[in-house]
Amino acid sequence: MQLPLELRQALEEETSNPRLRVLQAASESLSRQYRDKRPARVPSESGRIAYLTARLPATYAAAHRVSSELVARIPGVEIESVLDLGAGPGTAMWAAAAVFPALETITLVERDPDFVELGKRLAGHSFQAAMREGRWSNADISLIDEYPPHDAVFLSYVVGEIPRASLERIIGKAWSAAKIAIAIIEPGTPAGFSRILAARQELIRLGAAIAAPCPHDSTCPMSGTDWCHFSARVERTSLHRRAKSATLPYEDEKYSYVIAARCYVDRARARVIRHPTKLKGHVRLDLCGITGLLKKTVARKTKEEYRTARKADWGSVWPFDE
Ligand SMILES: C[S@@+](CC[C@H](N)C(=O)[O-])C[C@H]1O[C@@H](n2cnc3c(N)ncnc32)[C@H](O)[C@@H]1O
Repeated sequence: MQLPLELRQALEEETSNPRLRVLQAASESLSRQYRDKRPARVPSESGRIAYLTARLPATYAAAHRVSSELVARIPGVEIESVLDLGAGPGTAMWAAAAVFPALETITLVERDPDFVELGKRLAGHSFQAAMREGRWSNADISLIDEYPPHDAVFLSYVVGEIPRASLERIIGKAWSAAKIAIAIIEPGTPAGFSRILAARQELIRLGAAIAAPCPHDSTCPMSGTDWCHFSARVERTSLHRRAKSATLPYEDEKYSYVIAARCYVDRARARVIRHPTKLKGHVRLDLCGITGLLKKTVARKTKEEYRTARKADWGSVWPFDE
């Protein structure tokens, strides 16, 4: 996946000033925070620029995948409005706008005033009026009593920055504002997954239907050292490569997520939860299904199942009985 052209151009413009060494040091420190545990705030100028180069492409890729999954799991859905909570530079808005063709209204809430200004400047490069006319609010989501209703509500890589004690309240308010669905995305680490699990439990308690990635809304079967996460590949721009002193032309972002809805959801019968092992004449799959976790070997003689398994990827839906 590539970032939209106008976003790449906007990023080039925003990041053209800082010296590369400053950018590399800030990018390295930021990436370490995300790998290790919960990220800290990103207050400094160089921290924000580093976010644009080192993190935005990856969080965009995850938000794009999750938005596409939302469309896939809610038949006929048309998302006309999006509320992006903890928007940062507006990453989830860019992803949502690329996936939801009917999008008209976007509201973004972000507590860092400089990120708000940066997000507005980036959005000014968009070809889409909905993004250029996005309603930005410089506010703390934990201090707002009620969020304005929108078709879809996103909490993208922000739950980790919310104190655990406030999580239920914020999820409750976000769910109340979601006219159709809510999507929550976190880094694909054990800590990120544990927050997704807590959010998922709270959403189920509130009566939401889990749309993805789970094939059910019963207790999650992942336990112990296992955690549910997926991977989204994004092409690195040359700036992205230089900032991270990286050689590979792409990056794989590991993310955990949950999508919940108010309407009928067409859940996966089962979900591929690891890279499939594709061998001669058979494919080995790790699945999460209605009855829990299972390993499945699909042999060539099963024809249709085998063809599907050869094409399957980590995160794909498995459309057959377990
Ligand atoms: C890791 S960044 C994620 C940005 C963006 N959503 C993305 O996916 O790239 C987290 C953002 O949430 C914002 N944030 C954290 N806590 C917040 C709060 N209580 N209210 C509003 N924004 C908050 C931070 O300032 C930061 O911009």
